[in-house]
Amino acid sequence: MVGLPFLLLYLGEIRGQLPDIPTQREDDPQEELYQLLLKLRQEEIFDTLLVYGKECAFHSLSRRLEVPMVMVSSGSTEFDWGYSTLTLILSCGPEEEKEANYRNRVKLQKNRRLIYLPEDIQPDSVCNNYSLKEQYNVAMVREDFKKTRVIYACRFLSHPNLVEKHLMTSDPIFIENFQNMHQKPIKAIADLVAPRSMVCVIAKSGEKQLKGYVGNLITNFAQKVNATLQYETLNNKVSFLDIIRRVSEDELDIGISLEALNVNKDLDTASYPFLLTNYCLMLPVSAKLPINRVYAIIVHHLVLVIILVLFIVLSILLIYSQKRSWKNLNVANILLNDVAIRGLLGQAFPFPANAGKHLRIIFCILCFASIMMTTMYNAYLQSYFTNPPTEHEIRTFKDIGKYHQKIALPKFEMTSLITTNNSQFAEINKRELLIIDGWKDYLNLRDSLNLSYGYLVTEDRWSVYAEQQKLFKKPIFYFAKDLCFSRQLFMSIPLRRHLPYRHLFEEHMMRQQEFGMVSYWKSHSFFDMVRLGITPIKDLSPPKVFEASLLLQDISWILKLYFAAMMISIFCFLFEILYAGQRRVINDVR
Ligand SMILES: *[C@@H]1O[C@H](CO)[C@@H](O)[C@H](O)[C@H]1NC(C)=O
Ligand SMILES: *[C@@H]1O[C@H](CO)[C@@H](O)[C@H](O)[C@H]1NC(C)=O
Ligand SMILES: *[C@@H]1O[C@H](CO)[C@@H](O)[C@H](O)[C@H]1NC(C)=O
Ligand SMILES: *[C@@H]1O[C@H](CO)[C@@H](O)[C@H](O)[C@H]1NC(C)=O
Repeated sequence: MVGLPFLLLYLGEIRGQLPDIPTQREDDPQEELYQLLLKLRQEEIFDTLLVYGKECAFHSLSRRLEVPMVMVSSGSTEFDWGYSTLTLILSCGPEEEKEANYRNRVKLQKNRRLIYLPEDIQPDSVCNNYSLKEQYNVAMVREDFKKTRVIYACRFLSHPNLVEKHLMTSDPIFIENFQNMHQKPIKAIADLVAPRSMVCVIAKSGEKQLKGYVGNLITNFAQKVNATLQYETLNNKVSFLDIIRRVSEDELDIGISLEALNVNKDLDTASYPFLLTNYCLMLPVSAKLPINRVYAIIVHHLVLVIILVLFIVLSILLIYSQKRSWKNLNVANILLNDVAIRGLLGQAFPFPANAGKHLRIIFCILCFASIMMTTMYNAYLQSYFTNPPTEHEIRTFKDIGKYHQKIALPKFEMTSLITTNNSQFAEINKRELLIIDGWKDYLNLRDSLNLSYGYLVTEDRWSVYAEQQKLFKKPIFYFAKDLCFSRQLFMSIPLRRHLPYRHLFEEHMMRQQEFGMVSYWKSHSFFDMVRLGITPIKDLSPPKVFEASLLLQDISWILKLYFAAMMISIFCFLFEILYAGQRRVINDVR
């Protein structure tokens, strides 16, 4: 009784598995090929079949597989099709695939290929021909596949070059050939722009090692795929645009460098974007205003006019409400109204004993205005004495010409800014530009943090300068976030067009980014640069001049003005006495 449920369960299990086993149809001539495609689909799913060649056994299979099929009977397509990475390529013969469009060839490079081979052709020569075209994912079946059930799969970089697999074996037909490159070289060139790529020589063995966040990424990749990294380094004479040129001419596999992607560029010779950054200006922090000019700048013209108007209005009101008549109204009484002057300057003034309601209200207004004014100027003056304002701040690209801020930039950068019609660059007065021919000279000037110039810098590089400035007594440069030539600039690594392990590299790159390795390396950039002797660990800010406290000579011009005014008053006074004396003499004579 106990055994029965187990038996039922067992039967149920077998029945559950039955639909997975395709029903064998012995009479069908394509049965084995169909089994093979099912096996391939289990290894890695495919969603499209691309069939090269006119008519062969593959053509009738698609209906049974229920997968869309693209038939290219001529062997070549002119149009740039967007084939998916999940396309399986079937070819009716070794010479049938004659793709003319190179974009399609690049797109289909890593896809799996199954080739139907006539009896008389040797499989290893097919492998060789495909490897010359840098297509490495190839397997073949012969015409007698129905009988032998043998699949020939090409292997590269390892021995033997060709393996035979039986249809019923479980090990995979296609493998990732470049997972282990068996110490094959990766040809590269390093631009040695700190901090992204730097070279460090190990003292013990004299061996050179690549550092920096791009350098590390590529060294790790070579290690991961068991390849050797063969790299040259750029010198000053060769522009780093040369890396991009040599990569696009297929001379190099990888450039250990970063290249900005502009809108029109395709990703043929560049990796998937590696960094996202802003490209802006870094400008010297402008000097503080000398302390003796603080008195002058707190007096704003508009505020002066308002105070003057307030003064005149208060004077007129005072004159009227004292006698309730306009009799005393004249210019001298308005402008030299001692009550209003003393009131506004916060001084004591006589308050009439029997003041009316109106007069008291006006006195209240006067007192309030005086409190406002004196406290405002007090606060203004004292805060500016403690922390003087900067001389001028550059807020727009036009200000660069206005304040004669020199900007240094390398020549190739200027050419590229002009050819891309950069609107921000067009606003800069060209007389303020210092154009430097050698790009390394430019980098050296920028690294010396010479305060005579502003520089073009990516936000990424700026973070290292910001780290460096933490050692300084005070920061000498700032990153002008409002003055950017391009925002959201994608940077990617130059890669050869037909690089067969491009997908492995990009996956590696994204994994390192995702895990946080890249940001970790970046955060260590400055200390790596110090360790390798690229950046000195010293304060590059100009020595601080000893700022004496406010001296009498700082406000001497105010005293001079006061003195001149006193002289004029004395002169007027003397003149009045003399004039009055003469009148009395004339009256006496009469
Ligand atoms: C391989 O290429 C050579 C030269 O292009 C050609 O002669 C030969 O027939 C090709 N072999 C196969 C198997 O396609
Ligand atoms: C790397 O390649 C070398 C040379 O072919 C080989 O001896 C070694 O076993 C490989 N290393 C790994 C981890 O596969
Ligand atoms: C730049 O502007 C010129 C003339 O205004 C135009 O002919 C050219 O196509 C523009 N270039 C780009 C890259 O937009
Ligand atoms: C900065 O550059 C100017 C002009 O090129 C030069 O005269 C000056 O000596 C440099 N200053 C420093 C600190 O190198």
